[in-house]
Amino acid sequence: MAENGKKPTRVIAIANQKGGVGKTTTAINLATAMAATKKTVLLIDLDPQGNASTGLGIARDARDVNSYHVLIGEAGLAETTHDTEIPGLRVVPSGVDLSGAEIELVDMARREVRLSEALKPAMGVYDYVLIDCPPSLNLLTLNALVAANSVMVPLQCEFFALEGISHLVKTIEAIRKGFNPTLELQGIVLTMFDKRNNLTEQVAADVREFFGEKVYKTVIPRNVRISEAPSYGKPVLIYDHKCAGSEAYIHLAAEVLKREISLSKGV
Ligand SMILES: Nc1ncnc2c1ncn2[C@@H]1O[C@H](COP(=O)(O)OP(=O)(O)OP(=O)(O)O)[C@@H](O)[C@H]1O
Ligand SMILES: [Mg+2]
Repeated sequence: MAENGKKPTRVIAIANQKGGVGKTTTAINLATAMAATKKTVLLIDLDPQGNASTGLGIARDARDVNSYHVLIGEAGLAETTHDTEIPGLRVVPSGVDLSGAEIELVDMARREVRLSEALKPAMGVYDYVLIDCPPSLNLLTLNALVAANSVMVPLQCEFFALEGISHLVKTIEAIRKGFNPTLELQGIVLTMFDKRNNLTEQVAADVREFFGEKVYKTVIPRNVRISEAPSYGKPVLIYDHKCAGSEAYIHLAAEVLKREISLSKGV
């Protein structure tokens, strides 16, 4: 507990401008695994595709008021927050309106800090706020990175992965200079890992050499149950809690939480 008796809420943006690398899958399942350890988690779906909302079983017609309205100031967090079937995990869904937010935000005052300001009511209420970002370094992602304490980067081990991530690291540095001096790199999680593939192993070794301890020991294997779960509107941990994908996300959550305990103790 913080000194004021409230929880010290940590805001983590899950970002990588490359599409299809496992951002949404990681957001949903890390959030679920954290909630399973009795943490309270709010997941903000900031992608117009709305995959995190679908993957958590929020029906399309329940998304009329969504993260778009929060961003442009037409709705508050409370009225856009939905419960999920996982105790402790709540979600602010997105809607297709969010695809127009980019253009509308351009002319708005303090356009980069809108999400940060809108998230104030969540501070001290949740242990974690996870933000699922779209596959682009646009104004939506910028809002997420300005609102966040840290960035978690899911990375698929393929050719050019390191180049993509170095671009993201430069963006993080620019955001530190311009808007959010304390923004940290939370960690890099290797996703859709296929240990039979030599390239995967080679890229993983390069990423670990470059980013050292920032790369989680836990890797998320390529696992068909993970890809099936969203079509049932369920996290894989609920869909099949014993599969390799679920185990990996449980380990990842444990690693994230453990690292944070060591950081707070100054270890
Ligand atoms: N470990 C995995 N094993 C098998 N399939 C996976 C795994 N992780 C993700 N997928 C599948 O790969 C696809 C892309 O994953 P996901 O939607 O999480 O990526 P994303 O980075 O959020 O994509 P986008 O950039 O479009 O938002 C999805 O169909 C998902 O179900
Ligand atoms: Mg996504």
